[in-house]
Amino acid sequence: MPKLFSSIRWKVLLAFFLIIGISFLVMASTLTNMLGRYLFEQRIRADRAGLENWAVEVAPFLYNADVDSLSAAISRAGNEMSGRVLLLDSDGKVQLDSFREAHGRRLAYPEVVSVLLSGQMADYGVHSLKTGKTIELNNPLRYNSRDEWVSYSTASIIYSSKVVGVLLLVSSVGEMMSNLYTLQDNLILIFVIVALAALMTGAVFSRIITKPIVNLTGVIGLMSKGDFAARVPETGSGELKHLATAFNSMSERLQTLDQSRNEFVSNASHELKTPLSTMKILIESLIYQPEMETELRTEFLSDINSEINRLAAIVSDLLTLVQADAHNMRLEREKISLAALVKETAHRLEPLAAQRMQRLSLTLDDSGDMYADKSKLRQVIYNLIDNAMKYTQDGGLISLSVTREGRDIILSVSDNGPGIKAENLPHVFDRFYRIDKARSRDSGGTGLGLSIVRQIITLHGGTIKATSEEGKGSTFIVALPIHKG
Ligand SMILES: Nc1ncnc2c1ncn2[C@@H]1O[C@H](COP(=O)(O)OP(=O)(O)OP(=O)(O)O)[C@@H](O)[C@H]1O
Ligand SMILES: [Mg+2]
Repeated sequence: MPKLFSSIRWKVLLAFFLIIGISFLVMASTLTNMLGRYLFEQRIRADRAGLENWAVEVAPFLYNADVDSLSAAISRAGNEMSGRVLLLDSDGKVQLDSFREAHGRRLAYPEVVSVLLSGQMADYGVHSLKTGKTIELNNPLRYNSRDEWVSYSTASIIYSSKVVGVLLLVSSVGEMMSNLYTLQDNLILIFVIVALAALMTGAVFSRIITKPIVNLTGVIGLMSKGDFAARVPETGSGELKHLATAFNSMSERLQTLDQSRNEFVSNASHELKTPLSTMKILIESLIYQPEMETELRTEFLSDINSEINRLAAIVSDLLTLVQADAHNMRLEREKISLAALVKETAHRLEPLAAQRMQRLSLTLDDSGDMYADKSKLRQVIYNLIDNAMKYTQDGGLISLSVTREGRDIILSVSDNGPGIKAENLPHVFDRFYRIDKARSRDSGGTGLGLSIVRQIITLHGGTIKATSEEGKGSTFIVALPIHKG
């Protein structure tokens, strides 16, 4: 099949055309057949009734061989029934003919024979004058319209319970047939007009149906070339509109994903580039100044070392995030005590706090065990305390608390540092987001800590929120469901 006809549009059009065409043809042929049958039945009934009356009338004349009365009656009958009336004797020989032509001839028409031999009262048949072929009356239009069609009606003439002769009426049915053929021609004409109209409406309908699909295909083509901003018009109603809406929301999501992927890649490369350039400068200095003092050389090497540590930390953070994005991050839940984990992590950070004369205050309500991923929660606690210490001035106070609220365990980390401005607060969980970029980088921050924290907590089915008052400090509150192992 050519490509043109394999499209939905053509299929719809063809289906439309076939449904209308077939139903019209069935309807038209049933109608003409019914009408044909009806017309013939009427005609047969009228001819038969007339002829039988005449048979009764002429019976005594025939029996008494009253030729004058007979021939007068036959020509009257011919006039009255607008046809040719013949009187045949019991041998089938023509005795009288209202056209005065066939006297003395024997007519062995089936209609005559059936009346004379099988004793039927009357018979009827329609024939072609040219070929003598008989029509089957239940489908008169099967026959050639140019033939001259005549009907033969017969009625037996009975006198004293004996068949003494036959009356034969030959009349033309050409007019009836031609009326039927005209009807058929008209129906064909109407069919052509209806078919054209059906094709036109079908074309319009199929266009309406396929237009959204064509639009969608176009937009999918654009998207596959990387244009995620393309959208399909959400017109019309019903399934196709739903399809367009669903498609648009999918493309919106893809666009957002594409944007955040681009941002992620450019931020990540930027973050990796900074320590690499620092290392390059340091290493070049070491190469081009072989006479460098040992003290300075050691300082340079230790700077290079800390840049390498920073790179490793960034790469490991990035890997964690990528894993979480790809839904590859799995929790290894075990029975843990969050209070104990906080105590342990705080204890590890104690020396660092002491260096800056910061105080870590712990309020731990040993609220029972929970099922969670120990090493990931340790990372959460570490990141939150690390932030609190990093962004709080020397001598500051960092308060940690673990409490139980219903089916949740609440961890809160607060500090009395400078706090976070309300406008920045909603963004602190975004990737690579740092409020004071220079300061944060000095303290080794990449802006990934809190987004990792949030990923881990979400994966545990918990929530995290931040509150802060400028100048007074910030508080991060984590709620984790206990989760029965
Ligand atoms: N306790 C806090 N007080 C004030 N600002 C904070 C506090 N915690 C986080 N912030 C701000 O939110 C930003 C994002 O924190 P996040 O932990 O995600 O990144 P980071 O600490 O800069 O880097 P990283 O944690 O990856 O080393 C920080 O840069 C800082 O500006
Ligand atoms: Mg941090």
